[in-house]
Amino acid sequence: MAWRRIDVELWGCNPEGATAAAPADRKVSGPRARPSPPEMCVRLAAGRLAGALRMIDLRARPAERTIPTAEECATVSRAFWHAVREFEAIDRRVDRPEQARCAAAAREVLHPWLLRSDHWSRSYLKPHGYAGDFRTLERIYGLERDPCCDPTKPVVVNLADHLYRSVHSVRAMWHRRRWYAQLVGELLATSNARRPVRILDLASGGSRHTRDVLNDETADGRVELTFLDPDPAALAFIRSWLPSNVRAGTRFLCGSARDVRKLVLDHAGGPFPGFDLVISTDLCHYLGPLAARKLLFEMTRLARPGGLVAVSNFAPEDESRIVKDWLLQWPMVYRQTSAVRDLIPHGHSVGFDRSPDGGLLHALVSVNGSASAPRRDSDWASVSQHAPRPLTIINSDRERIRHTWRRSQKESGL
Ligand SMILES: C[S@@+](CC[C@H](N)C(=O)[O-])C[C@H]1O[C@@H](n2cnc3c(N)ncnc32)[C@H](O)[C@@H]1O
Repeated sequence: MAWRRIDVELWGCNPEGATAAAPADRKVSGPRARPSPPEMCVRLAAGRLAGALRMIDLRARPAERTIPTAEECATVSRAFWHAVREFEAIDRRVDRPEQARCAAAAREVLHPWLLRSDHWSRSYLKPHGYAGDFRTLERIYGLERDPCCDPTKPVVVNLADHLYRSVHSVRAMWHRRRWYAQLVGELLATSNARRPVRILDLASGGSRHTRDVLNDETADGRVELTFLDPDPAALAFIRSWLPSNVRAGTRFLCGSARDVRKLVLDHAGGPFPGFDLVISTDLCHYLGPLAARKLLFEMTRLARPGGLVAVSNFAPEDESRIVKDWLLQWPMVYRQTSAVRDLIPHGHSVGFDRSPDGGLLHALVSVNGSASAPRRDSDWASVSQHAPRPLTIINSDRERIRHTWRRSQKESGL
């Protein structure tokens, strides 16, 4: 239970909608009960994958071979995804205690193989004390160009890396990185340098999407960045890559998103005109409805009228949800577009985009300065979620997103 407690403390929330089983199986003790039929099915499906890995290991060792063949990759991938589909079907038809037992059985069979890979073990063990620390994310980004054929790793470790790389949510994060980089890049490219564009990155981690578009030239006098994260190591990491010509004007706020408004205003030390762009790539799906609504309320309040707010949230369509729930104990709150829209205070326009597999939603909100907003912090929860609101569906059409940018910039005299 200790892990779960740390998770909740760090994210500052109770993920009411989170579906993953509590990590009760971290110590399995006492006499083993006879497995139920669903658990037997789980053990069979997981056992097929473990068996395939064992056979490959036995064949490769005497040949001193560490690089998997294409056929071995395909065999292991088939067995893995067959097992995952089986887990999903079982997860749908059994109650929660049985889900927890089945998930524990899957881990018991597969972890001895999967956790030999740094990617699987880091995601499961959570060395910063919670899921999705910035180092884990940095490794995920690094995987995009990694063929998982390291001759200094055993063949089964290369295969486990290869499986991790095939997980839909991992791929969706690569897409998310580009999506935000494009958003930030477009804002920088169209700024006419009358004043720097002000960007706030909440739960920034290493802010890879910003790093992708910032260099001495793009950053030169054009941008004023604020990063917020409760992990000082993440902020130190950003300092390590930030171009020297923006470092001096950059604000680093070490704290929780819960306190973002106070932290921003304290640092501004005077009237604050609002950010042109407020982003949070990877926070919303760790928050239950109340905390997530508070987050969106604060984000829209910190943006200037006509500014933009962007957040992402994994959706129920994420085909790798069971991998995270069962094998990694990486709980999230999966939301449909309607549920994400309901988090946004009414009066603002919102459009949605998705990762190519459909499992990760990106919401882009155009902030309406005259939107009726709650007056006090404590009022945010009472925002009517059912009131009709104007909607601009921006969709995945890049041209329309650009159009929104230009209009917003013209209005603000940027
Ligand atoms: C999964 S990482 C995302 C990093 C980065 N935004 C990205 O997309 O690569 C999530 C980040 O949220 C931070 N975090 C955890 N709890 C938080 C909280 N209550 N408020 C703000 N950030 C939080 C973590 O320290 C971590 O750096």
